[in-house]
Order: sequence, then C-alpha cells, then structure tokens
Amino acid sequence: MSEKFYITTPIYYVNAEPHIGHAYTTIVADVLNRFHKLAGQDTFFLTGTDEHGDKIVAAAENSGQTPKQYVDHISGMFRDLWPRLNITNSAFIRTTDAYHQETVRNILSLVKEKDDIYFSEYEGLYCFGCERFYTEKELVDGKCPDHQTEPDVIKEANYFFRMSRYQEWLVEHITKNPDFIRPERYRNEVLSFLSEPLEDLCISRPKSRLTWGITLPFDEDFVTYVWFDALINYVSALGYPEGALFNKFWPVAQHTIAKDILKPHGIYWPCMLKSAGIEPYRHLNVHGYWNIDAGKMSKSVGNVVDPLALVDIYGLDPFRYFLMREMAFGLDSEFSEKALVQRLNADLANDLGNLVSRSLTMVHKYFDGHLPDAGPSGEEDDALKNSAIELIETYRSYMEQMAFHKALMAVWGVISDVNKYIDTMAPWVLAKSDPERLKIVINHIFETIRIVAGLVWPFMPASAEKIQEQLGLSIQGGECRLADLKTWGREKPVHPIRKAPGLFPRVDVKKKEEEIPPATGKDKPKKAKSDKTEKPGAISFKDFQKLDLRIGVIMAAEEIPGSKKLLKLTVDMGEQRTVVAGIKEHYEKENLIGMQVLLVANLEPVKLMGVESQGMLLAAGDKDGLHLMTPDSETTPGSKVK
Ligand code: ME8
Repeated sequence: MSEKFYITTPIYYVNAEPHIGHAYTTIVADVLNRFHKLAGQDTFFLTGTDEHGDKIVAAAENSGQTPKQYVDHISGMFRDLWPRLNITNSAFIRTTDAYHQETVRNILSLVKEKDDIYFSEYEGLYCFGCERFYTEKELVDGKCPDHQTEPDVIKEANYFFRMSRYQEWLVEHITKNPDFIRPERYRNEVLSFLSEPLEDLCISRPKSRLTWGITLPFDEDFVTYVWFDALINYVSALGYPEGALFNKFWPVAQHTIAKDILKPHGIYWPCMLKSAGIEPYRHLNVHGYWNIDAGKMSKSVGNVVDPLALVDIYGLDPFRYFLMREMAFGLDSEFSEKALVQRLNADLANDLGNLVSRSLTMVHKYFDGHLPDAGPSGEEDDALKNSAIELIETYRSYMEQMAFHKALMAVWGVISDVNKYIDTMAPWVLAKSDPERLKIVINHIFETIRIVAGLVWPFMPASAEKIQEQLGLSIQGGECRLADLKTWGREKPVHPIRKAPGLFPRVDVKKKEEEIPPATGKDKPKKAKSDKTEKPGAISFKDFQKLDLRIGVIMAAEEIPGSKKLLKLTVDMGEQRTVVAGIKEHYEKENLIGMQVLLVANLEPVKLMGVESQGMLLAAGDKDGLHLMTPDSETTPGSKVK
C-alpha cells in the first residue's frame, strides 16, 4: 500500500438537488478516505459541483434566476449537505472557480500546441440532456439510451480533440493495468467500446448558442464543452501543474463514479491527460445504480430519494451503514425503506447495539466499571481472540477491493462470534461460580469490541466513536491505526466504564408507517389489508407479531413500600428496564436474582404504587401459585421470543 491516497467523487451537476445516488458515491469516497486514514496514510478527498453547460442554463431559466445566482444556490446545497452526512472532504471545487477556469485554459493551450485540436464543420445527432453528440449506433430505437428522447440534428463548426490518436495507447494501458478500471465488468465495457474506431471529440460550443462556459484560450467566439471543462477539476483542485498537492497526490489518484459516466472517465479523460503530458490516474472505481421500482431514480419520474429525510427518520449512521452494506459495489441495487429498517433493527440494534450495551453493563456490574486484570486464557478465549485479529486482515483486503459489503459481513461474523461466546461462557453464572474466569471472559469481550469499533469507524464514525468513548479508550476515531488494533490488550480504559444508553434505537415498523411520510415519492405506505377470515376471539399472526417479547435477566429485586404484592425488578434485556411485577407472594427476592425471564417489552409504561413499570413479566398461574416463564437453557438477554 502506498503512503498516500487521493480519492474523488464526480463533481455533481447543479441542475437538481442532491439525492441518495449522490449521497452514496460521496459516502463511498468518505468511507475509503477514512479507511486509508486508519491504514496510516496521508489522504486527500475531493468533491464539488459541475456548473457550466446547457443543462444548467435551462435549469436556471426554469427557476427564474441568472445562471450565476442559480449555481451559487444549488452548489451551496451540495456543500451544506456533506457535513450533515459526516463527509470529511478535504476540498470542494466549483467549475466556476477562477483557478479552475485558468487551469482548463492552460490545458487547452497545451493540447492545441500539440496539434491535438482542430477546427471543422460537423453535422451530428445531439442529446441536450447528455450535452453530447451521439452516433446512430449508440442510440436505442433512435433515442438517447439515458434520456429516452430523440436527439436533435445539429450542424455547426466546432473545435475537435484528436482523441483517435490515443486509442491504441489507451487499449494498451488498460490491458497492461488490469485494475485501471474496476470492477472488471466496466473495464470490459470500455475495451469493447474501444474495439471500434474511436471518433474525435467535439470540445467547443459556439457562443451564438451557449455563453455559460469557459471561453477557449484560442478563440473568443467559443466556450469549452462541459465535459472537457469538468474532468479537469481533478487536477485543478490539486494546483496543477506546480502545486505541492498535485505532485504529492496525483500519482495515487482514484476516481469514484457510477456507470452512467464511464465513457467520459474511462475514455475521454485518459486521452486528455495523455495529450496534456499528465500521467493517467491510477484507478477508476465504478459502481452501479440505486434503482427504485426497478428503474433509475430520476427527478422527472418523481422517485427521487431525499437523503436528509432518511437521516432525519433513521439517523445518519444507520443510513450510511445501510447504503454500504446493501449494495455490492459495481452492481445495481434496489432501494427500499423497509430493507433499511430491517438492517437497522437486525444488524445494528440487535447484533451490535445489544452486544455493546450488555457487555458494558457487565463490566459495570461485576467490576464497578474497571476492566479487571486477568489470568491466562483458555482454548475458547483464544478462538475468539484469533477470529478478531484475523478479521483485521480480511477486512483490509475487502476494503482494498472495494468490497464494502463483504468487509461489513466479516465484521458482523465476529460480532456474532462474540455474542455466541457470551452465551456459552454465561458471565452471569461465572459471576457466582468462578470470578477468575469471569475476568478473562470480560477482557476478551472488551478487546473484541475494541477491534470491532475501530473497523466500523469508516462506515459509522459517530457510533464507533461513541463505543470507543463508552469503552473508556483514549485513542478514538481517526487516531486509531489498523496496526494498533491488532495488538491485543493494547489499551486500558482511561475512565471507568459507565452504563450507556442504547446506540441504535429499534424502529417500530408499524408505528413508523403510521407516523412518518415516506422519504420517496413512490413508496407511499399502503393501507393494511384486512385479515381474511376472522374467528371470534382469534387474533391474526400479524397482531401477535405486534408483541415485542424478549428474554431478560433479573439483576435486582426490591420491595415497594406499602405494597403486599408488588416487587420492583431491574431487568437486563440488552438495555436495563424497571419492571413492577405482582409476584411478591410467590417468590423470595434473593431467588430472583440472575433468573432469566420472558418480558413483554413494548407495553406502554404505567405507574404502579408510584414506580414506573417499563414492561411485564410473563407467568402462568395454577393451584400452586404463580410460575414465571423462563427459557429452558441460558439465552442471550434481549433475544426476541417468536
Ligand atoms: O454526471 N445511483 O453529474 P451528476 C447511484 N457533472 N449513483 C448515482 C445515481 C443513482 N441512481 N444517480 C446519480 C455528472 N448518481 C457530471 C459529472 S465529473 C467530472 C462530472 C451519482 O450530477 C453517481 O456518482 O449527473 C453518478 O456518476 C453521479 O451521481 C452523476 O452525477
């Protein structure tokens, strides 16, 4: 791995507001940037806005503003969105920035001096949506494949870039560098395109038709074609040709885009760089589309998903996690709010959230918040330790291949291992039977969570830092290094471990559907269909599912002054609940401690004898009295009863 890392997103058009497609690419770049920081590298992360061209002029006219007023407004919306998604870009470039315009003119002059630009009359099929000429062959049923509109026939004199000169060189470069364009499917797509003769690229627009652009340095009557202008942002932001940032970061440049703009990035851009005497970028990382109802998101279809609406409803980290976990980088994915909720509840609230909360509760309860010194470990402890340490290299390798979903699956594999380890070791039993073993077990749980927190940081920075803070670690977030994560027992908490509130509140799907308008135009909540056959007294399975039944452990039992029947219980079900139960006449307080019980966890809280009860224990009554329901073997607190 090189010491440096430079990542870019596309610079987005300011003809529409940001949606989850833009959010996804930018979060991918942020995750990569943070991962390379973890790997100890010096990083630079660039995003920005693409502000010239016909599309922008049309959008400005529609909104009754001048192009300048319009681009300032929408560019500001993109710029303001990124901090709200915890995006840590190093710079934000606008193609209307003076320094960028200067660089474009410099590069045009260089390319012209090389005799790679000529003037010619051209008649062709032009798509205004794409701002480019199409060949007959590229059209699908005579229409632009992206916009499904018939192109206009345009005849005009323009400047052309001799792209065809670089075709052979480009094919050779792609062939010699198999990961120049990745994943492979997109490399193959570009090579297949290059198997036909490459046409030269029209790189100007006459000012008689468009004035909103960068004037050509060698002809005042023309502006630069928007793609020739936009692609140069990747070097102008670094201060090309002489900037220190350019020298440092350009040799390791990686671009991230979706498949819609593969051709300008995979073909035009390397040829432009070659002509200007600049080394090609190192990697082009290409991902698929987020689709809705099997079609690409688009403003005109009205199925655009607003990232901020989702963040407001579900929280930022669940949103970031969902996008990265759900999409296999390179393939298309279908967006659904339901899938987001499922991931939040299963992977975050249940698996990770519960693990952290019950583990911290144990350190707090058994060791007063202090991580104990422990004796030598046994076979099962070592197995957990090994899988946690091996995870670091597996994760690194997946992250380097852009296989984010696999990296996360590997982390969740270890989360599942540690959850199973807790269930098998039963620390609540060891607390009574073997305090020395308990110390070893608690240390292994603590260390595994320390590794997990470090590895999830690129994806969910705020939650990872919260976990690191709750663990009492002094090295947090971007200060962490992958190499240090590997050193078992490296860090002792610098403050006592506190009982912490849950990291990821579960989402009650039913309630959400009733309360919250969907974040997408199309995904409107449907009216629930009535259940078909209704027997008197019978409830539907759906109604049964409304009950949130959980396994809990009774941690404490106290009398309630003045009450003959009630006991106040503290129950650990991943989080702690106070439950008032009418069992005083049937159980001795002392015998209840450590007992596993079944709890209705989603009853509205009620006050009984002045104490708020946040759940109900299930019990069966017969002639011998009341019997609390309890699982037939030790079960993880917080487990759902189905
Ligand atoms: O093309 N799924 O800008 P743009 C996934 N200005 N990603 C999506 C997406 C979707 N449904 N929709 C958009 C431009 N994106 C040019 C780029 S770069 C020199 C100039 C993301 O605003 C994805 O990254 O149309 C895609 O490549 C980009 O937005 C297109 O953004």
